[in-house]
Amino acid sequence: MLSYQHAYHAGGPADVHKHVALSLLLAALVKKDKPFAVIDLYAGEGEYNLTHFAAQKTEEFKQGIGQVWEAKSPPPALQEYLGVLRHMNPDGELRRYPGSPALARAYLREQDRLILNELHSTAFPNLGRWARKDERIVVHKRDGLEALLGLTPPNPRRGLVLIDPSYEVKTEYAGVAEKTAAAVKKWREGVFVIWYPILKEARHSAMIEALKANVSEEMVIDELSLSTKRGDAVSGLLGTGLVVINPPWQFEVALRDAGLWLARTFERSKHSQTSLNRAAA
Ligand SMILES: C[S@@+](CC[C@H](N)C(=O)[O-])C[C@H]1O[C@@H](n2cnc3c(N)ncnc32)[C@H](O)[C@@H]1O
Repeated sequence: MLSYQHAYHAGGPADVHKHVALSLLLAALVKKDKPFAVIDLYAGEGEYNLTHFAAQKTEEFKQGIGQVWEAKSPPPALQEYLGVLRHMNPDGELRRYPGSPALARAYLREQDRLILNELHSTAFPNLGRWARKDERIVVHKRDGLEALLGLTPPNPRRGLVLIDPSYEVKTEYAGVAEKTAAAVKKWREGVFVIWYPILKEARHSAMIEALKANVSEEMVIDELSLSTKRGDAVSGLLGTGLVVINPPWQFEVALRDAGLWLARTFERSKHSQTSLNRAAA
């Protein structure tokens, strides 16, 4: 049985890191009229109310989007992401937070598709209600890793897949590496975005090594270490990481600018980035 519920973590530092990167990738997709598809394999509930019990109980959003919302001059790399947030919170009071589905939907045009997947018994019906009546969106209830191979390549083939598991099952790290490497072979032009937590046990390290060994496409690895003012880790997270395979042109530059600023804004945090397999200019 799945116990993780994203409503407790929505808008936390890890969400901000992941969603800023996602907004940069979506902004690159809408630069061309050609249709695109976004596949979100671990979609959660669509969007979140930060005044509700779950968010108020952990208050994780105060360490994440709360800090960004109050900041004086966020850099251009955050403007896309903040634009979506301002649209959702037009009176300037931060109450609603977009999950990855709501962020993706903000960029969808008539010709684009959003393919969502969620397995949790409460999150799935909530996601279905959130997506209803939008004919550009389909919602599946499948195991995320099975769906990674089952739903790729999408139609249209241009687009991205977000792989954002809760990593409740320890074998998910190895599964993500193995299934992503297989999916990249079927969908060479797809942009693959993998989020991972950095925890004391560092289980993500083996996943990254397996991806490096089995994926020859261009790859950006972007990490933010996290510490709160009190010096304790945010909900056990020592950091948040992203692997982006087939990034669009100059994506890593914008994400680095965003990451360096987030590291200052979150305090006592550090940003790091590695690019691999870049074709010679
Ligand atoms: C980190 S949350 C996703 C957050 C969302 N992508 C966002 O950014 O707003 C992970 C989600 O995966 C779901 N989940 C966990 N195991 C799954 C599985 N095997 N297949 C599909 N979904 C799963 C959880 O119920 C949870 O909603």
